[in-house]
Amino acid sequence: MEPITTIQDLRQLAKRRIPRAIFEYADRGSYDERTIAANRADLAAMKLRQRVMIDVSQRSLATTIVGEPVTMPLAIAPTGLTGLYHRDGEICGARAAQAAGIPFCLSTMSICSIEDVAAAVAKPFWFQLYVMRDRGFVQSLVERAIAAKCSALVLTLDLQIQGQRHRDIKNGLSIPPRLTLSNALDIATKPAWAMGVLFGKRRTFGNLAGKAPGSDSLTTLSQWIAGQFDPSLSWRDVDWIRSIWPGKLILKGVLDVEDAKIAAGTGADAIVVSNHGGRQLDGAVSSISALPGIVQAIGDRTEILFDGGVQSGQDVLKALALGARACLMGKSFLYGLGAMGQAGVAKAIDIIRGELDVSMALTGVTDVKAVDRNVLAQGGTGLSGTAASVAAAVAEGEPGARANAPASAA
Ligand SMILES: Cc1cc2nc3c(=O)[nH]c(=O)nc-3n(C[C@H](O)[C@H](O)[C@H](O)COP(=O)(O)O)c2cc1C
Repeated sequence: MEPITTIQDLRQLAKRRIPRAIFEYADRGSYDERTIAANRADLAAMKLRQRVMIDVSQRSLATTIVGEPVTMPLAIAPTGLTGLYHRDGEICGARAAQAAGIPFCLSTMSICSIEDVAAAVAKPFWFQLYVMRDRGFVQSLVERAIAAKCSALVLTLDLQIQGQRHRDIKNGLSIPPRLTLSNALDIATKPAWAMGVLFGKRRTFGNLAGKAPGSDSLTTLSQWIAGQFDPSLSWRDVDWIRSIWPGKLILKGVLDVEDAKIAAGTGADAIVVSNHGGRQLDGAVSSISALPGIVQAIGDRTEILFDGGVQSGQDVLKALALGARACLMGKSFLYGLGAMGQAGVAKAIDIIRGELDVSMALTGVTDVKAVDRNVLAQGGTGLSGTAASVAAAVAEGEPGARANAPASAA
């Protein structure tokens, strides 16, 4: 086998090692998959500016995210069902992240529970919260995150209603995964996965099963979840969460400048510019094209994190150039996990770290905190229309548009 040198290599390996339904749950997007494609295409279209003869012998990738020191501007995004990629997948992810000195965010929809992960790692992790209809249960989740000493709460705003991923329906993805006539052949070729996950002890939603009212049996659990996403969610709920969560608050899923202004007004410590990895509103703009406008509008008021299509260190560099403080990776993390468990996650982080380090040096920058629009080639945002003109404004340093600026208190 050739050595693994890219996130795409990990993707190929994961594809071979885990059942198709689970691989495609991560790999594919909603509806016609225009937005998942745009996330990658718009990052790819950006051009970096090659610089030479600058002493880059001393380099640093270290920075902070919501005040936490990190070894590089990257965090693991919350992903549901992570424990189906590999046995105890969330624990593998948290351990790899902590060993690498970056944050790990546990999803509400995880397989390992908050308590499982807290017992398995030494340092605090982040917890992602979906506000569901049953507010009493939501409050209990927040209390569990406090008891587990989670260092930040990531409140996801962009899933009041779930976008449809056709592949999940066609693949008959079920939780917990079942051996059926139609998937038997596929699973038979993935014996290591079957031993670890199919016959492992954690196979369903660890934070919900047996703990959420009405979720005692597994069949009713999936029905319960389907009915739990709350279309009536509003900014008032953010105020409520703020009142019951004493720690750092990150609002995830902002793609529009008007929403970003409201989000900044809540006093959140950071927002994540995100379209849920192209899994929700298909036809929405790519995350990277939304970033410059949001940075311009609120970059001096709150920290701006970014996700959507990050699969290399160059992608991270481009997002930082347009004003992100750091990036989150969803699929890149899951490809590593599906390919090789904890070692695969460590590999994914290492690949991105190495690429970021070298690409930063080749653009003539030695400190990641100093990355700004100057690392992009003239006109190199590759963006069109409003996003391009706003990116240009960011470049010219208009007020509120300073790239990668440390956030002041909102
Ligand atoms: C399989 C999968 C499951 C996800 N589950 C969640 C989730 O439970 N909560 C959440 O806030 N975001 C979830 N996301 C979105 C990610 O947090 C992140 O926004 C997205 O993956 C970023 O895009 P990328 O996959 O291109 O890196 C999920 C993404 C994937 C791929």
